[in-house]
Amino acid sequence: ERSMAILNTFIRFIQVSMPRSDVIILTDPKSKLSINQGKASILPIEGNYSRGNLMLQRIKSYIAFLELKLEEVDCVNCARHFVFTDSDMAVVEDLGHIFTSYPNWHLALTFRNNKGQPLNSGFIAVRGARDGISNS
Ligand SMILES: *[C@@H]1O[C@H](CO)[C@@H](O)[C@H](O)[C@H]1NC(C)=O
Repeated sequence: ERSMAILNTFIRFIQVSMPRSDVIILTDPKSKLSINQGKASILPIEGNYSRGNLMLQRIKSYIAFLELKLEEVDCVNCARHFVFTDSDMAVVEDLGHIFTSYPNWHLALTFRNNKGQPLNSGFIAVRGARDGISNS
């Protein structure tokens, strides 16, 4: 119940900061999520969600999601970008400007000073053009 409250708050923050965005919750098909926020949807993705595999599974789920979206991108000027985040963060400003202010990248990552986990997968942005998606 508590984590559902956190998830709903997370969704609410996005909907206030970026009202034109869609919120898609990628999840284990076995989990029983009930979200009560209008525009958010749930996308179950098969995988190994055991504790020891969670970091890897998260990246695999992102890739599976992008592969689905790659099939949908068929217009040249589609500007539908993707931001993958953990649900324990609050989005307090429209992130759209990172795609327009800095046009020359496909994938944005946060590095951290940790040999075991050099990437912080809590925030990953993918440019929603065909090149951006397939290169990511
Ligand atoms: C899932 O991942 C864990 C941790 O890597 C591993 O021990 C387990 O065998 C995996 N389960 C399946 C069904 O692949």
